[in-house]
Amino acid sequence: MERRDIVRWLREDRPETLQVLWETADSARTVEVGDAVHLRGLVEISNHCRRSCLYCGLRRENSRLTRYRMSEQEILACALQAEELGYGTVVLQSGEDLWFDEGRVASLIRKIKERTSLAVTLSLGERRPEEYALWRAAGADRYLLRFETSRRDLFEHIHPPLERGAAGRLSLLRLLRRLGYEIGGGVMVGIPGQTVEDLAEDILTFSRLEPDMIGVGPYIPHPGTPLASEPGAATDQAPATELMTCKMVALARLVCPRANIPATTALATLNREEGRELALARGANVVMPNLTPARYRALYDIYPNKACVGETAEICFTCLKGRLESIGRYVGVGRGDSPGYRMKNALTFSAQER
Ligand code: 5AD
Ligand code: FES
Repeated sequence: MERRDIVRWLREDRPETLQVLWETADSARTVEVGDAVHLRGLVEISNHCRRSCLYCGLRRENSRLTRYRMSEQEILACALQAEELGYGTVVLQSGEDLWFDEGRVASLIRKIKERTSLAVTLSLGERRPEEYALWRAAGADRYLLRFETSRRDLFEHIHPPLERGAAGRLSLLRLLRRLGYEIGGGVMVGIPGQTVEDLAEDILTFSRLEPDMIGVGPYIPHPGTPLASEPGAATDQAPATELMTCKMVALARLVCPRANIPATTALATLNREEGRELALARGANVVMPNLTPARYRALYDIYPNKACVGETAEICFTCLKGRLESIGRYVGVGRGDSPGYRMKNALTFSAQER
């Protein structure tokens, strides 16, 4: 797809015309990845963070937040629960918390792999290449690291680098791919200062990078962060709306037809009644139900009013299953690996040797 077509869709507001985008994305999704919706159990293992991102409630300067770390026992219990609920994947997510050092994370991965047949996805932020390599060797399958916006100046503004010359997230994603991970990229929609043209560039970045997974959610201001009180709006500011997020999901499906694309919790937070269902009908094929123990959930406060904070793992599972079935979809069985990843890997030498 060309940039001007992408921009045209992002600026389109007539429901009849947008129907064409929704239907095209939905049929691409049906043909390429089918009607199964894979569930990824999300465990938010720590809300400590060494970073100062202007948008995120976990930023180190947020002294109002009670910080927690889950114990290894607690994390393993969540992984077992994921398997019992029939999920194919457990996602370990945290702020950038160096207490979870390479050895602790590797040992967690090994134990989960010993005791379950789950795919293990990591979402632990920007870490050293040696750590990524060790975790891969320990058995981690996938790594999520959204690049948030492909506009470098905007990214560095909202995500101050820890050191000059630090590797960008796109190059980290390429490194992760070389290490053999399935990689997940993604962006926030409607960051102050982000334009509609910037979103078009994000779609082009997806088409060039071809991530195995693409997460797209609306930016939600957190009152305890500087970005919430920054005037910031650009001329041609991209709105942080459900509609714009759905357009990004649909376009992501069209440029990366075989990617796994979640209906995000941030979208469900904007529209609790049907945010996820809308995304699933417009290109998405994955949901990431929360498995974090109830006493920690509210503390993983990246943005306010997060959907499902008051629910338990069992409630979310039953709720989601019902929601999927109400729109003619079903819970996928197995790990839900990326079909694109399987195809790329079938041709590598290491796969031949296996
Ligand atoms: N609004 C929406 N999404 C956010 N994230 C972090 N803070 C916010 C916010 N205020 C998203 C980022 C990050 C992911 C884990 O959560 O995209 O990569
Ligand atoms: Fe959590 Fe519906 S998915 S309550």
